[in-house]
Amino acid sequence: MKTIKTIGIVGAGTMGAALAQKFAQENFSVVLADREDKFVHRGIENIIKMLQEGVEKRVFTPEKVQKILSNIKGTANLSDLKECDLVIEAIFENFEAKKELFNSLSNIVPSDTIIATNTSSYSVTELAYNIVNPERFIGLHFFFHAAKNRLVEIIRGSKTSDDTFNATYRCMVKSGKDPIMCEDAYGFVVNRFFVPWLNEAVRLLEEKVASPEVIDYVCMQTFGIGMGPFALMNATGVPVAYHAEKTLEIFGNLYKVADMLKAQAEKNEQWELKEANADDITPSIAAIINERMLGIVFFVCAQLIEENVCTTTDLNKGARIGLQWKKGPVDLIQQYGNDEVKLFIANIAGRYSEKLPGNIEKLFFPLEYISLKKTGDTAIIRFNRPEDLNALNEETVKQLDQQFKLAEEDSKIKNIVITGSGKAFVAGADIKFFVKNIRNKKLENIVAFTKYGQEVFEKIDKSNKKVIVVLNGMAFGGGLELALCADTILSVSNAVMAFPETGIGIYPGLGGTFRAKKKLGKGLAKYLILTGKLLTAKDALNAGLVDNIISVDEMLDITEEGKNIPEAAPRTTENNWAAIAGIFEANTYENLLQGINLDGQMDKEEYEKLSKTIRFKAPVAMKIAEELINNGTGPDSELQQLTTIFSTEDALLGLSSVGKKVEFKGK
Ligand SMILES: NC(=O)c1ccc[n+]([C@@H]2O[C@H](COP(=O)([O-])OP(=O)(O)OC[C@H]3O[C@@H](n4cnc5c(N)ncnc54)[C@H](O)[C@@H]3O)[C@@H](O)[C@H]2O)c1
Repeated sequence: MKTIKTIGIVGAGTMGAALAQKFAQENFSVVLADREDKFVHRGIENIIKMLQEGVEKRVFTPEKVQKILSNIKGTANLSDLKECDLVIEAIFENFEAKKELFNSLSNIVPSDTIIATNTSSYSVTELAYNIVNPERFIGLHFFFHAAKNRLVEIIRGSKTSDDTFNATYRCMVKSGKDPIMCEDAYGFVVNRFFVPWLNEAVRLLEEKVASPEVIDYVCMQTFGIGMGPFALMNATGVPVAYHAEKTLEIFGNLYKVADMLKAQAEKNEQWELKEANADDITPSIAAIINERMLGIVFFVCAQLIEENVCTTTDLNKGARIGLQWKKGPVDLIQQYGNDEVKLFIANIAGRYSEKLPGNIEKLFFPLEYISLKKTGDTAIIRFNRPEDLNALNEETVKQLDQQFKLAEEDSKIKNIVITGSGKAFVAGADIKFFVKNIRNKKLENIVAFTKYGQEVFEKIDKSNKKVIVVLNGMAFGGGLELALCADTILSVSNAVMAFPETGIGIYPGLGGTFRAKKKLGKGLAKYLILTGKLLTAKDALNAGLVDNIISVDEMLDITEEGKNIPEAAPRTTENNWAAIAGIFEANTYENLLQGINLDGQMDKEEYEKLSKTIRFKAPVAMKIAEELINNGTGPDSELQQLTTIFSTEDALLGLSSVGKKVEFKGK
């Protein structure tokens, strides 16, 4: 399989320039090509502007910006793309122009260079007719702003080879994109329901149901979004929405462009949007808007599932990541329930004289938050909820339990790999669940959730198979506690890990107190839990928390193909943590707050920083955590203190103010 190191982008416009920026940020060599020098320069100027904004927001240092820019070579000569392993086409959405480009490209780049299209509306299979060796052709549909939006739809044409798919998929993961897989159907996944959703908003306006601002307001509430359909069309261009809907008309009457959208696009004018007037948003009007806007999404999603364009999980992910909806279509389907969803779909089908999609039942299946893939003697379990940083909730823990059981019971399986997706391995537990149950005085739900989590983690810890955790990104709180159940913890170099619990008023309750002690010793376990220190992979390797650091390619060999699993993890001999471990082993957190005799073990400044960190943690949580690390005897000990800790004022304060500085009261 090809390893992609150099990426060519053709078209330095809105999408092409943003893609060049993103790949350069991720350390790929990029060749950015356009028709003429002036268009190349415009593209590069736009990249510079974006990066400068990044410097102002402290996302990048000026040195990093220089490094990113040095990774990009601009050119108006397509033959400079010869050196690329992958070329992504991002030129005008015009079939003839794309066809012509692919004909020339086929003669320029080597025959094994992968060629991809960012088309929004054409068929990947049809575009591939213009490529010599069409097995190296694939669709990569990115989303605005392509340097920031993590979603990419990967579309195989009828001839795309497995090697092309695998190499491209790996490249997308390496460049920080969250891929979803789609069949080659017009509009792919997201545009297929998003654009008709915009169109339906215009129909509501046309029918004088409500004003644009009222429709926007209701949609913002229902879908949990910052902009409604009219504001969105104004931001991205009304003609873009019109052309996108026009290409979907092939699917039937429901997709027909609204007359008013056509007229507005021809005038090339924005929608007039005023401040929404609360008196205009009556419950009955909101109900009509809701039913129509949800109905259209549910109907199209049912069709997408019926046509096997994608899985329900990818469908939901597409909306959550690509459109930033707080609730994806499938979340909304689960929320509204069987009867109402079916009614909405039937009403929409009736309104546009469409056939009812079959297979609606599939929409009510739970989302697959934890996937299981078996390859040879290895089972790969993946947290597949990157839109929520793979946070642990009741459903993910249940699915982890089920998938682990399937791997565990399979006699052919020797290794069980557990990993994450997106930016995180597992970034802790679902805080909202804790806050809701504290407020509703239902602490028994928190106890039950924790007890079940402990049982599942215990099974992983005690498994007879070899369990390897591969940290692909952040591992916080419950995520780190899960990692500690593995026989081997591998990490990519940019993963980070921490126990943030005492900083949000609680303590690790999923085995962190005794498994950290077992792996790291009492002193270091106390240090990490009491300070919440954020460790880089290198720090964690030195501390003995991580057993080995691997490259992203090595990670992908293990987590995609179950290949090259290390036999025994080599333990690091370098340990820079002895002084800290000694201090925390010998002192209580109260001693550390009052001041200790350093005896040259640590310099004063470092100690003062440490003690200041502890001063901002929740005192009751610290006391219990310390007691558990010293004397706890396992999961039961952690469970016994749970009601006490979740009853404190500090727990509610900390959990409801994550990311903010708070002053704990010790109550
Ligand atoms: N804009 C979006 O939000 C978005 C989102 C997803 C996909 N897309 C798709 O991405 C593609 C590009 O869209 P865009 O919005 O970036 O367009 P754009 O008009 O901003 O940029 C297109 C660029 O391609 C260049 N170009 C045109 N023909 C060329 C050729 N033969 N050789 C080299 N360069 C050529 C143009 O000079 C221009 O700089 C389209 O297929 C579009 O459907 C766009």
